[in-house]
Amino acid sequence: MECLSPLVLTEDQQQKVREVFLDEMRLGLAANPERTSSLLMENTFIPELPDGTENGEYLALDLGGTHFRVIYVRMKNGRFSEEVVDYFHVPSEKRLGPGQDLFEFLADCIAEFVQKRNLGGRNFQLGFTFSFPMTQKSLDVGILVSWTKSFNCPGVVGEDAVKMLNDAIHKRKDLDITVKAILNDTTGTLVMGAYMDKRCALAMILGTGCNGCYIEKVERIEKWLGKHLESEMIVDIEWGAFGDNGVLDFIKTDWDRAVDDQSLLVHSYTFEKYFAGKYLGDLYREILLTLTKKGLMCGGKIGNLHTHGAITTTSVSRIESDTFKGLLEETKMVLNDVKLNHDDDDLHIAQYVAGIISYRGITLVSLITGILLERMQRNHCTVAIDGSLFKHHPRFRPLMEKLISEFAPGRSFDLRLAHDGSGKGAALAAAIAERLEQKRSLTNSN
Ligand code: BGC
Repeated sequence: MECLSPLVLTEDQQQKVREVFLDEMRLGLAANPERTSSLLMENTFIPELPDGTENGEYLALDLGGTHFRVIYVRMKNGRFSEEVVDYFHVPSEKRLGPGQDLFEFLADCIAEFVQKRNLGGRNFQLGFTFSFPMTQKSLDVGILVSWTKSFNCPGVVGEDAVKMLNDAIHKRKDLDITVKAILNDTTGTLVMGAYMDKRCALAMILGTGCNGCYIEKVERIEKWLGKHLESEMIVDIEWGAFGDNGVLDFIKTDWDRAVDDQSLLVHSYTFEKYFAGKYLGDLYREILLTLTKKGLMCGGKIGNLHTHGAITTTSVSRIESDTFKGLLEETKMVLNDVKLNHDDDDLHIAQYVAGIISYRGITLVSLITGILLERMQRNHCTVAIDGSLFKHHPRFRPLMEKLISEFAPGRSFDLRLAHDGSGKGAALAAAIAERLEQKRSLTNSN
């Protein structure tokens, strides 16, 4: 327990995380910040949510992980009446090779989908979920700030992902598609959350990566210069990068440093690396490696623990399920898989470690959620959440409910799984974009 104590957040540390997050938010929204914030606080150019008037056919794309999805939806009076989805595996040479190849691959997938589903011969409005940090100049321009997770294609950072997609689409000559909106998966989840429940004002992804967005008052987005008619706007926080400027180093452990050193994009996405699905398994493995090397478990034998990726986040979730149910079976299997000899004490230690790192991650995300609920001051806020960590880790939902209530006392909220926000949410965003365009042309003609 002494060895693991750096993973336990003290009350003082929790308070400091709160203060630092609030300050980074302020800096991220400021017109002339005195230093650069680690939070992008990006204007998504989505000032409205679904209002029940959405009609017609839309295409949506969802890129963010190893599976790319192409989606067709039909909407009738604001409800989804038909939905078709195809998955395409994105091989590592596309995720790490030249950006142009990646976008041409995406266009090939769209063409295959359109052909297979007999959707050729008509124009489609498309919403593109691109789950990476972007700066947006409008709803259909998204400049990539940096790659994250398992992507690192040269030639895309600093470029507009919509333009690159359009170039690839036009090169093929057999697709008639207008990209109406580019959005982050959290934004899609908020839009989808609002489709399910109008009181939704905050959304997050707790999956391979981690991020959140919320509805902000336009007057507080100081960096958005000029006069604006909109009163509210979805802001993509990009909280995965929280702490990249060192402000969160006071909770960083040697294990976090080890995880970062072995990651694809070192010294970036500090907060995400503390607990997101891409990293939690490795964090766990690094800790067990220390404990075995110190002779504190498994007779001091390290098995395969030195192998990066040998324990996945799914395994951590399985161990946590065991703890939850008072069992040891899954835990045994995970330790056997990495060739660790174990007795019952070792299994309990393994469960304790899984619990402690999960609790740290859940505390961090709950602290931030509490801050946002306080900031928005809604009578009730539905929080839309998607992502494998939230879906499969048995403790995220119950502990988040408990901790958020403690961190934002008296605030009414509920956590709602918004399945497929990044897919259907993109189609809804395309419909919203169309509506905004119509409104604008009406105002102009008047
Ligand atoms: C990306 C975010 C995204 C999150 C969840 C992060 O790595 O930077 O844009 O929302 O993953 O997919």
